[in-house]
Amino acid sequence: MTIIVTGGAGFIGSNFIFYMLKEHPQDRIVCLDSLTYAGNLSTLAPVMDQPNFRFVKLDICDRPGVYTLFEEEKPDVIVNFAAESHVDRSIENPEVFLQTNIIGTSVLMDACRKYGISRYHQVSTDEVYGDLPLDRPDLFFHEDTPIHTSSPYSTSKASADLLVMAYHRTYGLPVTISRCSNNYGPYQFPEKLIPLMIANALADKPLPVYGEGLNVRDWLYVGDHCKAIDLILRNGTVGEVYNIGGHNEMKNIDIVKLICEYLGKPESLIEHVQDRKGHDMRYAIDPTKIHNELGWLPETMFKDGIRLTIQWYLDHKEWWENIVNGEYQNYYKEMYGKK
Ligand code: NAD
Ligand code: DAU
Repeated sequence: MTIIVTGGAGFIGSNFIFYMLKEHPQDRIVCLDSLTYAGNLSTLAPVMDQPNFRFVKLDICDRPGVYTLFEEEKPDVIVNFAAESHVDRSIENPEVFLQTNIIGTSVLMDACRKYGISRYHQVSTDEVYGDLPLDRPDLFFHEDTPIHTSSPYSTSKASADLLVMAYHRTYGLPVTISRCSNNYGPYQFPEKLIPLMIANALADKPLPVYGEGLNVRDWLYVGDHCKAIDLILRNGTVGEVYNIGGHNEMKNIDIVKLICEYLGKPESLIEHVQDRKGHDMRYAIDPTKIHNELGWLPETMFKDGIRLTIQWYLDHKEWWENIVNGEYQNYYKEMYGKK
């Protein structure tokens, strides 16, 4: 099989490429990525020379470029990770989110219709379901929970999901969608909660917790997400949505305190800052369907995954110090008004 992985120079996409090359060495992986601030070619250095791997710098919105790549590669499967992925950035500048996340998705699916594929998989998010109240721990997101988005990011992802389903119904495109909870692990850009707190704590910089820090996220180790997508590609039912999550709900403030504890840093570094606009309170996935139908279960306990992740950031300082440069520094100063 030839599999085009879009957004493969980013956090989850790169972990997925490593996973697939290891688990399915007979497959050919073509990574399509435009290398935005969040994409790093250095991440893919270990696989760059593998004969069954090719990297192509390309924007998913570039229709002629995408069509040419499909003509060259004749892919069997497309896995679309490419996206603008950071909620705070979408609040500051929604337009690029609409462009990449919606228009880009439509270009990829048009290419699939034109050239034919056996599967198009859309990597979506639990954020399309909106949020849940803190005082109703009995409530979870199911695959048929209505879409009810909060941010420009989640709205752009939900729009893409609707388009994907429309292409399935209207044109018979063989699609699947996965909606995963918050991922953590190696190669996550340090603008997201966990790597940002690790990087700041190591530099003895303030740890900016939005509001009270009581918001709850359902954390999943990135390798478990990659395995779930692989299972959906191979055994999932066309036209179906699969929720992915590990029943691992944690308050933001508890995660930040845990990171301080593991790094031996004082909690006095924690600084409660202005809350995110429209901040979702709680995400909680019910993963029963993927468990019952495909036998998927998370394999990494949070206490192990977070230790692995912290150790990875300690061992790979050059990776994140190199990428946390010019453009990011300007963004960070604007966000937090700090150096
Ligand atoms: P990321 O921001 O780390 O990586 C995104 C990648 O997409 C980067 O390599 C970037 O260069 C590339 N990209 C952006 N715009 C592009 C374009 N127009 N053309 C080609 N490439 C482009 O994101 P991530 O955290 O790895 O998320 C990957 C996917 O998973 C996204 O679709 C996101 O919505 C979804 N998701 C993420 C999480 C999470 O916790 N991070 C959870 C559920 C779902
Ligand atoms: O749920 C899946 C989603 O998880 C993905 O679709 C998104 O692509 C991904 O970015 C992530 O979104 P979140 O907004 O949940 O992740 P983030 O790491 O930005 O924030 C996690 C929580 O931590 C959230 O409640 C906001 C809070 N936070 C975040 C940052 C960056 C802080 O308190 N301080 C911060 O500095």
